[in-house]
Order: sequence, then C-alpha cells, then structure tokens
Amino acid sequence: MEENQSDMIEARRVLLLVPRVTYRAADFLAAASRLGIEVVIGSDGALPLGVRPVIPVDPYDLPGSIDRIVRSGGPLDAVVAVDTPMLAVAAAVGERIGLPHNPMEAVMATMDKRAQRCRWAATGVPQPAFRVIAAGSDEYAVMSVAAELKFPCVVKALSLSGSQGILRVDHATDVPVAARRIRRVLSEGRGTDIEPLLIEEYVPGLEISIDALLTDGVATVIAVFDKPEMPDGPTFEETMLICPARLSDETLAASVSVAERATRALGLRHGPIHAELRIDPRHGDERPTMLELAARSIGGLCSRALRFAGNTSLEEMVLLNALGVGVTPQQETGTAGIFMLPLERAGVLHAIEGQTEAADVPGITGLSISIPLGETVHPLPEGDRYLGFVFGSGGTPEDVEAALRAARLRLRVVIR
Ligand SMILES: Nc1ncnc2c1ncn2[C@@H]1O[C@H](COP(=O)(O)OP(=O)(O)OP(=O)(O)O)[C@@H](O)[C@H]1O
Ligand SMILES: [Mg+2]
Repeated sequence: MEENQSDMIEARRVLLLVPRVTYRAADFLAAASRLGIEVVIGSDGALPLGVRPVIPVDPYDLPGSIDRIVRSGGPLDAVVAVDTPMLAVAAAVGERIGLPHNPMEAVMATMDKRAQRCRWAATGVPQPAFRVIAAGSDEYAVMSVAAELKFPCVVKALSLSGSQGILRVDHATDVPVAARRIRRVLSEGRGTDIEPLLIEEYVPGLEISIDALLTDGVATVIAVFDKPEMPDGPTFEETMLICPARLSDETLAASVSVAERATRALGLRHGPIHAELRIDPRHGDERPTMLELAARSIGGLCSRALRFAGNTSLEEMVLLNALGVGVTPQQETGTAGIFMLPLERAGVLHAIEGQTEAADVPGITGLSISIPLGETVHPLPEGDRYLGFVFGSGGTPEDVEAALRAARLRLRVVIR
C-alpha cells in the first residue's frame, strides 16, 4: 500500500457483511487486517471468525438487520457485502446511514436472471434472445414458449449460480425434459420448484469475464479473464481462467463498453462488478454479448491468482474502493491462471491423490481443495460446489494454461 493510501484509511471502520455460505470470507478478513482497517462483521451464520463479535444479520429480515447494525453503535465509513446473499443488506444499510450504496432495485435485478435480461432488453444491451417459462407450465406450454426461439438454447433457473440448474438443449422437443430436471434441482435445494425458468438462445464463442470497481457509476477495470475450456454444453463447468484475456485491443474495448452499458442499465453505481460475456463470432464480426453481471467480485477462490500494484489483493482493492481511495488497476502477477476442479461424477469423495505432484508442476503457485473427504458430491447440473482450485502464474498465457493442464492431469479424484 502506498503511504498516502495508509493515511486515508487510518482509523476507518468498515461493516463487512459475510453470508453463511461463501468462499470469500477468509480473503476479505485477511485483506482488512492487512490494510489495518477496523472491521465490524454482520453475518447470518456461525463463522470461524475467532473472537470477533458478529452482529446477527438476516437477508430475509432487512428492517431487523438494519436495526441491529445501527444499534451496535460506532461510526461506519463503508459497507461491503462479501458475496451475493448480502447485497440487499448492504444496499439497505448504506441507504439508512448515508454511505455510498447501490439502489436496491439494481442489486435485486442482478440476483434474478429474468429481471436482468428484461432490463437489458429495455435498453438494447447485446444479449441472447430469451423467453420466460412460467412457473407450473405444462409440457405443451413449455414447448410453445421454446418454439419462439432458434435452437440450440440454454434452459436455466432464475436464482441459482455456479452453473447449477443450467442445461443446453438442441431441440425444442427436449426442452420439457430439461425443464423437469432443473425444477428437480430447485425443489431438492430449496424445497420448492415454484419459480419460472429462463430459456435463451445459446451463444457460441470465447467466454470472458470482466471485473471492475465502480465509483459513482464510473468503472475501473481491474481484471479480464478468458476461459479457454468453457464447454459448449450440455452442462457448463467453469474450469480454466486466464488473465489477461487474449483479446485484440478492439474486442477488449468493445467488451468493456458492453459491460459498462449493462452496468448502467441495471443502475449499479458502487463497488465491484463481475461481468460474463461471450464473444459471438457468428455475424462476420466479433460481438461481445452479455451472459450475466453480478454486483460482486469474481467468485470462488479465483481472486487468489491476482495481485495488483504493491502486492495488493483484489479484496484489498474492493475495501479501498469502498473507502473512497483511488486504486491502481495495474496487475503485478503477469499472467495469472486458475483451474477450477469440477466434480465429474456423483458419490462420496474418497481421496484426492497426486496433490504434491500437481503442486510441484513448474508455474503452479497453489492448490486448494474445498470439499472435505467423506462428503457426498454431485456433478452439474445438480452440483453446487467445485472440488477445488489450482493456481498458476508466470510466462505467457499458453505457459500458464499448460502448467494448469499438467497439474490437473496429476490429480486423481476418487469418488465412490
Ligand atoms: N445463453 C447462453 N449461451 C451460451 N452459454 C451460456 C448461456 N447461458 C449460460 N451459458 C453458460 O453457462 C454458464 C453459467 O451461466 P450463467 O452465468 O447464466 O449462470 P450462473 O450459474 O449464475 O453463473 P456463475 O457460474 O457465474 O454463478 C455461463 O458461464 C456459460 O458458459
Ligand atoms: Mg455466471
């Protein structure tokens, strides 16, 4: 951190809203401690947070949560949601105590794939053609909605994430089967499948993600990844991410511009965004097309691959930005890569062999397994977790890709 930055954050107090389930808690806490910021934690879960007192916060009870936060006393200089489930609480608290925050409708639209598509449709943001399959539609109704689109298509739940409940479908006649399977994922996870589904045209092409920090509606891009192994379906395991993305300057600029339009259309103004696009090659030019945009930074443990000027982590950048301190988007890592290990079949996770050999591959900088042995696991579209993350850096993007692939080949995952 630069000296003038440390003066600006001295004695600052941040409310960190940590959801019960997230990969992101430890990295945000480490960032706050490294910056020397005083942290107040609000959470809906029992977290391994040491002796720190936690203000009970419930995303389904905003008034009660705000009251508890306000009553806990002490001034706050910023409110930061560590992950998606806390976005509405962060917006409500920011509004109540007069700190920079996103409008509630904007964060709600990022958490509902239909609302997001409708906002973008209203303002002409490039995205796949889509239709809504109403909750409780019978097979005939599902087929007639599907018949309005060109195939292949993707059918998805509105409220899930991590590619859970998402299937590519090549023919209209197969849509009812996919819809039934996705409804089963919803009812097993939430106890109810009463939610509309989205069906949208399948967009081919290279997938990328853009992370940026917003200050009063102005975006500073901090990381752009390409995803060279993104499958073309039927399920969409996110595996390899490489930063910086291998795009021409022109395509990169066009992609950032589409992501900025998408951000404005949603009404987001503050904090991190993570935009996902595909570069659609079908029209004789490269058209960046929005898949999705979240009002948070990149998910899982992926941020661990990145370091910015002064060895600053992405979470430190988010906290500094929330405190109104200008950030330097310059990346120090050179090329950074992540291999997210998907779960390839269902069963009980028995062993993950070859971890030392994988970690020893030149260019591999870390390996983190995120599911304890003995747990029952499921592949997509039912599964809701990744087995772990392999990190690599240095050299060209192709070097990092090769290192990650070599490490992956050395891991033997035993699921019984
Ligand atoms: N219309 C589409 N065309 C092509 N691929 C798609 C489409 N919709 C989704 N996908 C694929 O499925 C993946 C997950 O879709 P999406 O981002 O909509 O859902 P998610 O589960 O919320 O994602 P995340 O993993 O970011 O939480 C995308 O990254 C993409 O690879
Ligand atoms: Mg997504």
